[in-house]
Amino acid sequence: MNTENIRYGDGRLFILDQTLLPNEIKYIEMTCIEDCYDAIKRLAVRGAPAIGIFAGYSIALFHGNNLEKSAEYLISSRPTAVNLSWAVNRVSAAIKSGKSGIDEAIAIHKEDIEMCRKISEYGLSLLKDGDGVLTHCNAGELATSKYGTGLGPLILGKEKGYSFHAYVDETRPLLQGARLTSFELESHGIDTTLICDNMASLVMKKGLINAVLVGADRIAANGDTANKIGTSGAAVLAKHYGIPFYVLAPYSTIDFKCETGDDIVIEERDGEEIKTMFFERPSALPQTKCFNPAFDVTDNGLITAIITDRGIIRAPFDINLRKAINND
Ligand code: MRU
Repeated sequence: MNTENIRYGDGRLFILDQTLLPNEIKYIEMTCIEDCYDAIKRLAVRGAPAIGIFAGYSIALFHGNNLEKSAEYLISSRPTAVNLSWAVNRVSAAIKSGKSGIDEAIAIHKEDIEMCRKISEYGLSLLKDGDGVLTHCNAGELATSKYGTGLGPLILGKEKGYSFHAYVDETRPLLQGARLTSFELESHGIDTTLICDNMASLVMKKGLINAVLVGADRIAANGDTANKIGTSGAAVLAKHYGIPFYVLAPYSTIDFKCETGDDIVIEERDGEEIKTMFFERPSALPQTKCFNPAFDVTDNGLITAIITDRGIIRAPFDINLRKAINND
């Protein structure tokens, strides 16, 4: 794909506005910390690792004369993905110790490319040429730097000559699967079929799916994972049909301060999104109440393996996630 999601050069920061995809390719320049907050909040830049990379550049360039306050403000834009606070804290620490914040942000960006490549290699080792793969949300290059996490094995596999068949959940309500994943996989020449979220059971039952690959926003110490809303439903189905369910994420997504998924703060978005986003007319009456959590938690018992840049980690996750700490 030749559309980078985040562009930095000569002190200027641009993002590809993902809310306009796939119909319009438009870059917008960030000029202040409020622009950056807004870009994260309205999902113009999104996907856990990409939010981290972007937040690193944002705090480096626009912290003004109150680093702590700017950092706190930026972190408050979205609560679930661990990468946001991790990157902001890392760049802030560099600045406080007299180092260049922008060099630290560039380092985070470069490290992400390497991490995604490793995750993709490990993930690819679990697939066979010709496999059918179900994906949810968008965990590809738009959500990271290069290759992606959940989509990484498909993209790297294509580079290496594999032919996979991707079944893409549209991912209600914000359609990251339909708008972003299909666009991204098709631009890599990967065989891609879009399905509504409620069709996952059917394609599994028909034998079209050999593995489910998803990204994660935060992973608890016991292996429960916060993923895009709807992911846990796909995990339940995969278990029912005996299909491996893989979560792919950088090792830094594990938050050992969260013992279980119950400790993960789940972002709740404006319920109007359910009724109005991408519809010509609202799909329900104004008074109809909506519940719009952006993520849900997949229980560790539904996960076949967590694939990180430090290797493929299997149950018991509470023991094996900690063991992988030094597997670099
Ligand atoms: O709300 P979004 O679009 O930022 O959610 C993105 C996801 O859920 C991704 O799958 C997740 O961040 C993993 S990132 C590779």
